[in-house]
Amino acid sequence: MRSLSSIAGLGLALALPLAAAQTPYTDDATYAGLGGKDGIKRIVDTFIPLVLADARIKDSFDDFDMVQVGARLREQFCEFAGGPCRYTGQHRDRTMDGVGTVRDMTTVHQDLKITDAMFNALTEDLQIAMERNQVPGRFANKLIAKLAPMRRDIVTERAAQGRPDAGKFLATGGVSQVEGAGGGGITPWALIGGYGTRDSWGANAHYTHLATQDYKLDSYGVAVGIADRLELTLARQRFQGSLAPLNLLDIRQDIVGVKVRVAGDAVYGQDSPMPQVAIGMLYKRNQGVDGLGALGVSNVKQLGAKDDHGYDYYVAATKILFEQSLLLNGTLRATRANQMGLLGFGGDQGDSLRLMPEASVAYLVNRKLVLGAEYRRKPHNLGVDNEKAYYDVFVAWFPSKNFSLTAAYVSLGDITIFNPKRQRGLYLSAQAGF
Ligand code: HEM
Repeated sequence: MRSLSSIAGLGLALALPLAAAQTPYTDDATYAGLGGKDGIKRIVDTFIPLVLADARIKDSFDDFDMVQVGARLREQFCEFAGGPCRYTGQHRDRTMDGVGTVRDMTTVHQDLKITDAMFNALTEDLQIAMERNQVPGRFANKLIAKLAPMRRDIVTERAAQGRPDAGKFLATGGVSQVEGAGGGGITPWALIGGYGTRDSWGANAHYTHLATQDYKLDSYGVAVGIADRLELTLARQRFQGSLAPLNLLDIRQDIVGVKVRVAGDAVYGQDSPMPQVAIGMLYKRNQGVDGLGALGVSNVKQLGAKDDHGYDYYVAATKILFEQSLLLNGTLRATRANQMGLLGFGGDQGDSLRLMPEASVAYLVNRKLVLGAEYRRKPHNLGVDNEKAYYDVFVAWFPSKNFSLTAAYVSLGDITIFNPKRQRGLYLSAQAGF
């Protein structure tokens, strides 16, 4: 109870600065981090040529006065960053001393038919411009925290299209967790897999390998994200023992997943404490046990499980706090699965759905690199298996939207019961998609 209230307290403490996220920072640390006035000028001077060369958005800038746009952007970034500047474009069609007529963001952009993918493309160009000017990731993230909510004023167009648009921000589809859902390594998050925006779709395939001294676990599968709302996944797990007497052990499990985003937006809602919330279901079917023929065991029911198939239901809440360079996730899962289902469902110690908490915290080092840790509590249904919580620490690298690599140090408790050693090991996962 005490730990729950401290988690709630931490959430509140993190949420409080969000209420004011659209107002400029009150100290000038971000301004200094961007390099002050000269640094911001260099960023904008790098940014504008990138935008004008970006096939996704360059046509929108035809015939506009880019010198004027650049001057306004410098003011705006400087003011948001807590610098000694005043953005002169915030008053609707008002004449201001020395600068002429200025307009607010909605007025400026409303005829441009800007979609989510275009908004994100421009923001990505800004991230690249900051990267090229050696702005540390935590300050770049602080500027993005101010700009992301401007989607409300700037994006006016819904352009439903059959083609994948790869329009989401890098890394915001998460990676594939070990049961195939979009998330971290062991926990499903509320993020929808793939890079399709709400106007499009995306998909990916993953392969994961975890090796410990006692066993190895492989998982591979595909995920499709539709309209940044619905995620469909298919995954297969293969668990193999590597130490006698379980060196021939071979268990396979197939998992079908569906996840729906029901509220919030992890990326654009930077000025709101509301996380992105999704509900999901994983249907798991254990395909049987090989390698224990000598013991006459070929099915998880012979190990004490009540069933060889079952459902997990979960609700996940994910918040990306660009201002703090953090991603926080909490998942609550109702499950009967023993070791994810590898040892079947239900048992002599319990056969009902039990609620298990899972949590992830990650630090967004820069737009391509994320460091994090996860925890997943487990039920204990089988008397013969001392099932324990899973946890990991991970580093995920996103060199592009088509490929990501995750390395983790994982502990899945003691799955192979005849070997009493701690069963920890290295987890490597590759994901390719769009
Ligand atoms: C976070 C996102 C964005 C920010 C912060 C932003 C900011 C600005 C600012 C400060 C101006 C100058 C306003 C003025 O002259 O008074 C401007 C103008 C403009 N922006 Fe954006 N913008 C964003 C997204 C976009 C996107 C996605 C597009 C199109 C792909 C776009 C296209 C334009 C154009 C064409 C102008 C010139 C309009 C004119 O002079 O009438 N902007 N923007």
